Amino acid sequence: MEAWLLILSLLLLMGASKAQMPGFISLDCGGAANFTDELGLEWTPDDELMYGETTKVSVANETRKQYQTLRYFRANDMKYCYTLQVTGRTRYLVRATFLYGNFDNNNVYPKFDISLGPTHWATIVISDADTIEVQELIFLASDPTISVCLSNATTGQPFISTLELRQFNGSVYLTQYESQFYLSVSARINFGADSDAPVRYPDDPFDRIWESDSLKKANYLVDVAAGTEKISTRMPIDVSNGERPPQKVMQTAVVGRNGSLTYRLNLDGFPGFGWAFSYFAEIEDLGPKESRKFRLVLPGYPDYSKAVVNIQENAQGKDRLYEPGYPNISLPFVLSFRFGKTSDSSMGPLLNAMEINKYLKKNDGSLDGSIIASVASLYSTADWAREGGDPCLPVLLSWVQCNSDPQPRITKIVLSGKNLTGNIPLDLTKLSGLVELWLDGNVLIGTIPDFSGCTDLEIIHLENNQLTGSMPSSLAELPNLRELYVQNNKLSGTVPSGLLNKNLVLNYTGNVNLRKGSNKGSNSKVIIGSSVGAAILLIATIASCILMQKGKKKYSKKDQIERTMPGQRLVSSLGDAAKEAAHCFTLSEIEDATRQFERKIGSGGFGVVYYGQTNDGKEIAVKVLTSNSYQGKREFSNEVTLLSRIHHRNLVQFLGYCQEEGKSILVYEFMHSGTLKEHLYGPQTHDRSINWIKRLEIAEDAAKGIEYLHTGSDGTSHVSSIVRGTVGYLDPEYYISQQLTDKSDVYSFGVILLELISGQEAISNESFGVNCRNIVQWAKLHIENGDIQGIIDPSLRGEYDIQSMWKIAEKALMCVQPHGNMRPSMSEVIKEIQDAISIERGAEAVREVVSSLPSSPTSDPLSLSSSIAHRSTVNFSRPNTKYPQGFRDGRRSSGESRRREPRERRGSEP
Ligand SMILES: *[C@@H]1O[C@H](CO)[C@@H](O)[C@H](O)[C@H]1NC(C)=O
Ligand SMILES: *[C@@H]1O[C@H](CO)[C@@H](O)[C@H](O)[C@H]1NC(C)=O
Ligand SMILES: *[C@@H]1O[C@H](CO)[C@@H](O)[C@H](O)[C@H]1NC(C)=O
Ligand SMILES: *[C@@H]1O[C@H](CO)[C@@H](O)[C@H](O)[C@H]1NC(C)=O
Ligand SMILES: *[C@@H]1O[C@H](CO)[C@@H](O)[C@H](O)[C@H]1NC(C)=O
Ligand SMILES: *[C@@H]1O[C@H](CO)[C@@H](O)[C@H](O)[C@H]1NC(C)=O
Ligand SMILES: *[C@@H]1O[C@H](CO)[C@@H](O)[C@H](O)[C@H]1NC(C)=O
Ligand SMILES: *[C@@H]1O[C@H](CO)[C@@H](O)[C@H](O)[C@H]1NC(C)=O
Repeated sequence: MEAWLLILSLLLLMGASKAQMPGFISLDCGGAANFTDELGLEWTPDDELMYGETTKVSVANETRKQYQTLRYFRANDMKYCYTLQVTGRTRYLVRATFLYGNFDNNNVYPKFDISLGPTHWATIVISDADTIEVQELIFLASDPTISVCLSNATTGQPFISTLELRQFNGSVYLTQYESQFYLSVSARINFGADSDAPVRYPDDPFDRIWESDSLKKANYLVDVAAGTEKISTRMPIDVSNGERPPQKVMQTAVVGRNGSLTYRLNLDGFPGFGWAFSYFAEIEDLGPKESRKFRLVLPGYPDYSKAVVNIQENAQGKDRLYEPGYPNISLPFVLSFRFGKTSDSSMGPLLNAMEINKYLKKNDGSLDGSIIASVASLYSTADWAREGGDPCLPVLLSWVQCNSDPQPRITKIVLSGKNLTGNIPLDLTKLSGLVELWLDGNVLIGTIPDFSGCTDLEIIHLENNQLTGSMPSSLAELPNLRELYVQNNKLSGTVPSGLLNKNLVLNYTGNVNLRKGSNKGSNSKVIIGSSVGAAILLIATIASCILMQKGKKKYSKKDQIERTMPGQRLVSSLGDAAKEAAHCFTLSEIEDATRQFERKIGSGGFGVVYYGQTNDGKEIAVKVLTSNSYQGKREFSNEVTLLSRIHHRNLVQFLGYCQEEGKSILVYEFMHSGTLKEHLYGPQTHDRSINWIKRLEIAEDAAKGIEYLHTGSDGTSHVSSIVRGTVGYLDPEYYISQQLTDKSDVYSFGVILLELISGQEAISNESFGVNCRNIVQWAKLHIENGDIQGIIDPSLRGEYDIQSMWKIAEKALMCVQPHGNMRPSMSEVIKEIQDAISIERGAEAVREVVSSLPSSPTSDPLSLSSSIAHRSTVNFSRPNTKYPQGFRDGRRSSGESRRREPRERRGSEP
């Protein structure tokens, strides 16, 4: 009989230890195997976590297995997250514990942050190697998972010993604030405890930890009133309501035999608003004449002293729970409280337990959190997808960037080369704040989805995937798109003309079935080189604009002018990959195309440019670099690399390169146009001078091209080295530093602006008077003396607004400041030009009205509207001439290009 009983109770015991409470998760961080502890809790190792290192620790008197190991992480700006499954609309306790144990043999007590999702939960401050730090949070689950993250180590390395999740039941810890606040556990005290040991599972089915009031801790339950006595009972206590404190806790209490119970303790996390409740059960037998009535006295809170506690009456009986408290009370860090008996009470106050939790405001987190979670769930085995936590808070996932709004949005996704398979996740199109998307170098299939909801998108990289279908024309409608790479996919159809017309870096090569299609808009392109190149660029632009000006009423829709620019900008090496991607011409191909370098069309510090025509009739400009302009292979490869990456409206297409027999050759699209030299200050100036607004528009276009190089080249710094420039445009600082910088380009651009104002060449032996050969010195003298008229091109015949002229003149002077750091940035210059343009347009409109009045000279209103509406997208007729143009020092047989005739007028486009 007794044996049976024994077996039965053993079975029960085993049953109890097997029947882990539902919703319990006990992670033994750094542990190696599952085990069940003596309480019956089942621990699992956190070995699925791919971050951090694990190590053993050993602390005297700590024999629990879960405290023999821990996991630690590098102290950096990453967050390290545990993601736990939860059931929605259910309340939980999450507990993280930390036993340092000098695991790193450093004896530096770590300090770091712990967060629950986006919410900063606590700062863990280790102050003793052998003491377990415990943090507990009560929350209502709203998502299917929670993440607990460690981050921001300010000393030592972040680490964790255990992570425990305990599920509540019914309305336990329901508060009216729970959708916006967590409860951070500050004090949970078992009064009258029979030992120092806490009460927890299985006595508490929810495994809360009820600390013993006899535990000796600094600032914990001091100032105890004389006459305080522990009592206990073995009677069962009815705890079936409220927060369901464990019976074991309710079976002990303290009573104030002298009429008072007083305590003082520090409340972690306070001052603040909190949830504070007392747990009472009458566990003494009160005689018929006896009564126990008392009040809470909180110094400084007279209102709280009004309510009288009569446990037995309130609980409607003995051994029953009565749980009064304050769901929202403001409490100080050092809490002193007293329960004092009322004058008509025969018994002193009694207290079984008390719990104080601080409200912790939930951070709403990133607006895109669920989208990111759903994207990550598609790749659940990948490391990057398992980082967990809010994408933006408290620190970023490694593969995203966010804006700094209180509820941040994702601005950048970087999943290049992550072996992504399947379609482009549609959820990405819901990221309404997305600015950059990098999905290149994966194995993505399917079509490019509609990103028109992501109106902030500027940069899209989808190259080197297996994408099929056509390029959605919605891409062209992205107002801010400036970089689109789709090369080396399996795209088909035609490139939407909207994209070709956009001010955009576009690469769609390597899509065998993708055709360029008809290119309706213009994409005038120029390759910008060094400071010299910048100068040259503008010259070319101006030249082609002259042509535009000439025939602006009748230009062809289909034809386009193409401009090409030599020049040098050596960039830090981007590696040989891009160079290999650029087409490599053989020397014999080049020789054939140029007919043994027959026609020289330009020359300068960089070398000589020849005209050529490939087998399929394509006209090319071939730049043969002088041997000393490129000091070695590396520089050449740098330029090739850069050029092959650049694709911009203002840049001419780079076709390839050739490096053979000691020759370094760059091949560009050929551009038909005249040169600045001829058109601005050549002998034929008078019959076709370009007006001021056109000059401004040209300047704007060119400035944008230069700015693009300064800012848009993929973060590449422009480390220029030995470059020989054309005298007159070259940054004077260069002579000292032998370094060309962005500010060197600004200098050169300033020279161009002065040329535009004056119609004078940069260097002249005659134009600038005695002892002055340089436009900069000459213009400076005039402008600084307030004599701007003295430098304005007479061929403008006074048709300009003096204010816009002054704006440009002053900016030009800023650009040619001797010291680079005094010069403005290109974007400042652009802004100034744009201001000048709007001033000039206003003035021009007025002139237009005035000139259309009777007796005024007739004017052509079309010229005004077309110059406004089609400024940057005008198509040019391909001239009849074969003469290539556009180089600063280019030579052209006289006249022909001036006689080219417009074919048809382009339709108006917004
Ligand atoms: C450890 O426990 C977890 C959860 O209870 C279980 O999924 C896993 O299979 C166990 N591992 C071993 C080795 O028993
Ligand atoms: C370890 O436990 C023993 C007995 O409980 C105690 O005397 C000793 O002070 C404890 N040591 C530490 C370091 O806590
Ligand atoms: C990191 O911790 C320090 C000190 O605890 C704190 O001042 C800082 O604000 C924290 N940084 C973040 C990003 O939480
Ligand atoms: C959870 O609630 C159910 C029903 O209210 C109850 O039967 C059960 O005992 C509760 N569980 C705990 C651990 O209190
Ligand atoms: C507590 O009560 C006892 C007996 O009534 C008395 O002797 C003692 O002085 C009281 N102590 C205090 C602090 O009031
Ligand atoms: C608590 O009360 C204060 C003051 O009335 C109020 O500002 C606060 O929102 C309330 N709730 C919480 C969770 O703090
Ligand atoms: C991609 O997959 C290949 C082959 O399975 C593997 O070698 C490579 O490491 C993977 N790369 C990444 C970034 O996961
Ligand atoms: C476009 O991409 C192809 C393939 O990666 C590369 O070879 C070429 O250089 C790129 N062109 C530009 C202008 O970036």
